[in-house]
Amino acid sequence: MVAVDPNKQQQGLGRSLLKALLECAKSMGCKVASLEVSAKNKAAIALYEQAGFITCGIRKSYYRNGDNALIKVKQFCEVLT
Ligand SMILES: CC(C)(COP(=O)(O)OP(=O)(O)OC[C@H]1O[C@@H](n2cnc3c(N)ncnc32)[C@H](O)[C@@H]1OP(=O)(O)O)[C@@H](O)C(=O)NCCC(=O)NCCS
Repeated sequence: MVAVDPNKQQQGLGRSLLKALLECAKSMGCKVASLEVSAKNKAAIALYEQAGFITCGIRKSYYRNGDNALIKVKQFCEVLT
């Protein structure tokens, strides 16, 4: 999960933070990253999809308010052809 101070949002900080996290994970040998995000959180979904995350499942009523979570994954390893 990434979060940016509401007063500093939409200035590229979330993208930079996520990029740094993913680069760190990749450098440590991580092959796949996964996360949950509220199906209603349009800003975060757009951020994660820009970074290459795809939806692979749903956790129904994952949050206390009953909202569903999307399970999103990003693969680091390249496909060899
Ligand atoms: C999601 C969050 C981290 C984005 O951080 P941010 O610094 O505002 O994001 P950035 O400025 O780096 O924007 C990167 C991309 O995110 C998406 N995005 C950010 N804010 C958005 C908004 N209000 N609506 C739609 N898309 C948005 C866009 O795709 C954007 O790319 P673009 O500028 O090319 O359109 C921020 O909104 C946040 O902290 N939200 C509350 C915490 C939260 O929900 N975290 C995720 C929990 S899983």
